[in-house]
Amino acid sequence: MAKDYEHLRREWVEMAPYWIEEARAGGDLSRKGLLDAYMLAACGDVQGLRILDCGCGEGRFCRMLVERGAGYVLGVDNCPPMIEAARELQSGRDEYLLADAQDLSFLAEASFDLVVSYLNQCDLPDFDANVREVFRVLKAGGRFVVANIHPMRSAGGSWLRGPDGAKQHVMLDNYFAEGERHFSMKGVQITNFHRTLSTYLRSFLRAGFTLEDLIEPTVTPEAVAAYPSLADERRVPNFIIFLLKK
Ligand SMILES: C[S@@+](CC[C@H](N)C(=O)[O-])C[C@H]1O[C@@H](n2cnc3c(N)ncnc32)[C@H](O)[C@@H]1O
Repeated sequence: MAKDYEHLRREWVEMAPYWIEEARAGGDLSRKGLLDAYMLAACGDVQGLRILDCGCGEGRFCRMLVERGAGYVLGVDNCPPMIEAARELQSGRDEYLLADAQDLSFLAEASFDLVVSYLNQCDLPDFDANVREVFRVLKAGGRFVVANIHPMRSAGGSWLRGPDGAKQHVMLDNYFAEGERHFSMKGVQITNFHRTLSTYLRSFLRAGFTLEDLIEPTVTPEAVAAYPSLADERRVPNFIIFLLKK
């Protein structure tokens, strides 16, 4: 990994113990109550497929794909404790490598049926490089399923609250000012990268992908009943999923 990016990796090394603990306890609410179902549906029938997961973390989604019959799942992440944790639960059809999702040059061209990026591109200074590399390693007809923070939210606006503390609406500002955003998650300072919707879309199209679908996940009444704090997901979009095809 380029030296300039080392500080970004360090943030995730600091985050890793909290992240792994939460994932091993079932995952965060926005994943288990919202995104997992959409991501699995977007991946479709994975029976026998060769799958790459970019920024796999401690391997949670890789294991879900293996459970659903994937032939082989390779998870790559540039954070050593995440890869070590993923290897602890490795089952035989999944493998984990310490690598930068922006440089997949160690992987052969046209060697995967499906590539997944589950909230990883927001961490990448050069997401365009990831898009080009994924296009190269996918077989013709292969799919790239990308979950990102919704550009309306990655811009950085928070909730405006009334005098009683009630949430009134999310403020959207600085949408066209792309670049770094800094916030605290689980007490750790994390850097994310905000890009507009058109920047994402142009990168995918320029690499050669066709857009098959665009999904803005929201919660079902059942999910709100199970996880009441997810009710805000019915008011403003938090995430976006791109279904791309080579
Ligand atoms: C928000 S977490 C998502 C983890 C996993 N996909 C999940 O949904 O549980 C982002 C992950 O991206 C990894 N990451 C950040 N920059 C990366 C890079 N340049 N190459 C590979 N992985 C990276 C982090 O270490 C972290 O595990």
